[in-house]
Amino acid sequence: MITNKLKNYVLPCAIALFSFTSVHAQNKATAATEGKINQIIKKMTLAEKIAMLHGNALFSSEGVKRLGIPELTCDDGPLGVREEVLRFDWKSAKWTTDSATFFPNGSAIAATWNPALANKFGVAMGEEANARKKIVMLAPAFNICRMPLCGRTYEYYSEDPFLNAQLAIQSVKGIQSQHVAACVKHFAVNNQETQRNSINAVVDQRALREIYLPAFKASIQQGGAYTIMSAYNKVNGYWCSENDFLLNKILKQEWGFKGAVMSDWGGTHTSVNAAKAGLDIEMGSSGPYDEWYFANPLLAAVKAGKVSENVINDKVHRILWVMFHTSMSANHPAGKMNTPAHSKTVYDIASESIVLLKNEKHLLPLNTTSIKSIAVIGDNATHKFSLGGFGAGVKARYEVTALAGLKSRLGNSVDIQFAQGYKPDYQTTYTDQQKEDANKPNQALIDQAVATAKGTDAAILFVGSNRDYESEGQDRKSLILPFGEQQLINAVTAVNPNTIVVVIGGAPYDLNEIKKANHTIVFSWFNGSEGGNALADVLIGKVNPSGKLPFTFPASLGDSPAFALNTYPGENGTANYKEGILVGYRWFDTKKIDPLYCFGYGLSYTDFAYSGFSTNKKVYNKSEEITARLKLKNIGKYAGKETVQLYISKVNSAVLKPEKELKAFKKIWVEAGKEAVVSMALNVKDLAYYNDKTDKWVVEPGQYKIMAGSSSRDIRAVGSINVQ
Ligand code: GLC
Repeated sequence: MITNKLKNYVLPCAIALFSFTSVHAQNKATAATEGKINQIIKKMTLAEKIAMLHGNALFSSEGVKRLGIPELTCDDGPLGVREEVLRFDWKSAKWTTDSATFFPNGSAIAATWNPALANKFGVAMGEEANARKKIVMLAPAFNICRMPLCGRTYEYYSEDPFLNAQLAIQSVKGIQSQHVAACVKHFAVNNQETQRNSINAVVDQRALREIYLPAFKASIQQGGAYTIMSAYNKVNGYWCSENDFLLNKILKQEWGFKGAVMSDWGGTHTSVNAAKAGLDIEMGSSGPYDEWYFANPLLAAVKAGKVSENVINDKVHRILWVMFHTSMSANHPAGKMNTPAHSKTVYDIASESIVLLKNEKHLLPLNTTSIKSIAVIGDNATHKFSLGGFGAGVKARYEVTALAGLKSRLGNSVDIQFAQGYKPDYQTTYTDQQKEDANKPNQALIDQAVATAKGTDAAILFVGSNRDYESEGQDRKSLILPFGEQQLINAVTAVNPNTIVVVIGGAPYDLNEIKKANHTIVFSWFNGSEGGNALADVLIGKVNPSGKLPFTFPASLGDSPAFALNTYPGENGTANYKEGILVGYRWFDTKKIDPLYCFGYGLSYTDFAYSGFSTNKKVYNKSEEITARLKLKNIGKYAGKETVQLYISKVNSAVLKPEKELKAFKKIWVEAGKEAVVSMALNVKDLAYYNDKTDKWVVEPGQYKIMAGSSSRDIRAVGSINVQ
């Protein structure tokens, strides 16, 4: 029993003393680091400083050997530490010690709606980066999913800036907990792969501030990201690698970024402009390195007085600051590769990422007492997803496929027969005609699959895409399921009514026909080394699916804003983001367009009832915090997790506002039949919109609707609050 004196006096003093000493200690450490950095810079020659500002090989930039400063080594990518490549060539270094853990892709992590798992991902990948002696991991990548065909949607997280930010913060914190620098990318407004090296994204200030920048701001101010990668494209007429507004004004001055900005590979365009606009390190693919913009030409520019040495010193300071937090930090962990804990992290993410889209026939979870034979059909049942996608490829130490996962769970009790069903005959280098031909059904394989499915109690189709079909450097041409899969689905479901369709991909697909036919649908992802085990455990009911879509699945491409306004891929090299802030569900809800599946959608094997929704107050001033609470009851027979989403909508706003905006969410486990209290908090200032006339964040006074939902379109409770 804590006496009142202890609780009201001693404890607060102890906490205050602890926090004062720890802040004081932190400040002392910062001052000490600053002192060391400034001492080092004083000893460096101009040539040594310049050498630090550009690549000296594919994945490194110079240190200062004579002063004990190591090279800055970096590596890809968002799905794991890529295999070692040659120092001066993208070819594999053919190591035997660089197999790594293949982590679930970005949109899979997003589909978990579980920032704690994003943190676990970061910790595990940081440990593997240390084991490979990488100081900077070129991850996480979280450009907003503005356009559903973007080839890198699978690497990114979401269409919503708030969900993006929560995942970015935690991924960065996880990676950097291991004294490895995260490199958040691609800064900024890099939302298509078509003409990615040249497109000029024209975006208004409000959309920039409310949609495209928040996750980057959060990853730096709340995640503490040590480095950031400037994107290939232009924003409002200026290359991202020399965009003074983005790099100096917003990133370094307004957000207080202390770390280093590195360019995307080959994404630097000048010496003087880029140096003055805030780029710190020029990275690229091939030498001669001394001829790069930030090498001899920059040295000459400094000597000619075009760039002051103070500008160079600031860049060196930033790079050394990153090093003192990483390779030159005290107690720098040695790291470890491919541990059971890493595999567990992959499994946990994968199993929470899988989205149950439709289960009206209750074919799931599989009834393994009555089902004695299963036809497993589709190349994606045996396909491996770790390699591909340029820098996002991983030489996985192992990868459990869907078929292997099912066999490991059911192999002794159920007769499993496999049929390939379709050939994923696709190469990024194919001509458009070859790509079109690749989407024709393979009748022989379909006939074989039908013959297999005719004779089994159930059939599970594994369709969707793969890491060649979704990749950096290209956008998809349509939402259709590739490789003639729809014809396969129609043929198999015609002969076996107990067919489950599992779509594996990293982005939205056209599932209209499958949905209309009322088939059972599961959406899974490029789900890492344990992907097949997690998928099997969801299908047999060992795991109750809890994934929710991190982006809208349009019913048709023309419904999505970039196509509705004909701004993709842009004209004469300019993509005009005419939809402004109405990205994703903000567009569909405000324009009252029904999507195929909405943002935040995902079913469970159980059901949840929402009740008792309330807020801590009815009227708030602008500096207060809003707490929303509700009771969540599991009214089904399976324990499971629900992600309660909190949306806000301004009543009679004086300016254009989306119909609703996500402002908080909470994922919570509830046993069958039990009830839990869910509490979510947000600040009134989080309701602000960006007034691009005054360049200020403004909280409109007046009435707001506050909504709790199981998805953006399944609102279960509505409240009203007033802001004075
Ligand atoms: C690429 C990508 C970037 C990657 C870099 C190094 O072009 O855009 O994400 O980290 O080059 O591979």
